[in-house]
Amino acid sequence: MIIDWKEIASKKYAEIKNEVWNIEEPLTLLAILVWNNPSSLRYIKQKKKWAEYVWINFKLDHLGENTSESDLLKKISEYNDDKNITWILIQLPLPNHIDSKKVINLINPNKDVDWFNEKNQWKILIWDDSWLIPCTPAWVMEILNYLKIDLPWKIVTVIWKSNIVWKPLTMLLINSGATVISCNSKTKDLSQFTKISDIVICATWKPGLLSLEMINNKTVVIDVGFTIIDDKIYGDAKFDEINNNWNLITPVPGWVWPLTVANLMSSVVKSYNLNK
Ligand code: GUN
Repeated sequence: MIIDWKEIASKKYAEIKNEVWNIEEPLTLLAILVWNNPSSLRYIKQKKKWAEYVWINFKLDHLGENTSESDLLKKISEYNDDKNITWILIQLPLPNHIDSKKVINLINPNKDVDWFNEKNQWKILIWDDSWLIPCTPAWVMEILNYLKIDLPWKIVTVIWKSNIVWKPLTMLLINSGATVISCNSKTKDLSQFTKISDIVICATWKPGLLSLEMINNKTVVIDVGFTIIDDKIYGDAKFDEINNNWNLITPVPGWVWPLTVANLMSSVVKSYNLNK
């Protein structure tokens, strides 16, 4: 059974619009896109659309795949000093010849709306509600909250792909009292963990990773996968068989954009309030 996301997203956008309406200064979000990866292009298109919808100025610097690491670092330093740019995000992943960590850590932590810079990320360990939450983990927690899932009583398996999702999400779940099992691509017999889980969150970007036989009848599946093959988007879970069995599941496509992007816009407003 599909979890209805429209209600969560539209409520969130209404709240953001209301907050931005009351801010008198212009808010400008700059996105740096290096290569022409199809997922990144789609993400950026959605970020632009929804930023403009909530009256946030959106600027895109599309550098091209041949950009060197040093050119990218130089650009970031310039944008760090540019008073007209309130926030900077680098669309990930970056091409292999660029060290993502170096790049992300150069972003001024006050302009780091993704909350990926190490100076911000460590704060996830000692959670404080006033800080930002990277936008994908934020929407996952929002869904669990929307479903009124009492996390202290639940077993949650997180199957990871990257630091963007896995580490912050694992910490958020631990902080909320859930019993968390952290798996990865090398975990032996994944189904021994997923089968006993009340919630499985998969973010490996490996289509077909999670099948119906790997979960139990009540497992809620939150699918953060987002792989494009021949212009079609796939999640990590075998959606049809899990959905037909009446398990609750988030569909792909459908989730990643509306709520990830809504949470990004919400981070813009929160960050404005943090820095003013
Ligand atoms: N690529 C996939 N998800 C994200 C995200 O949340 N932020 C950025 N900057 N890049 C991404």
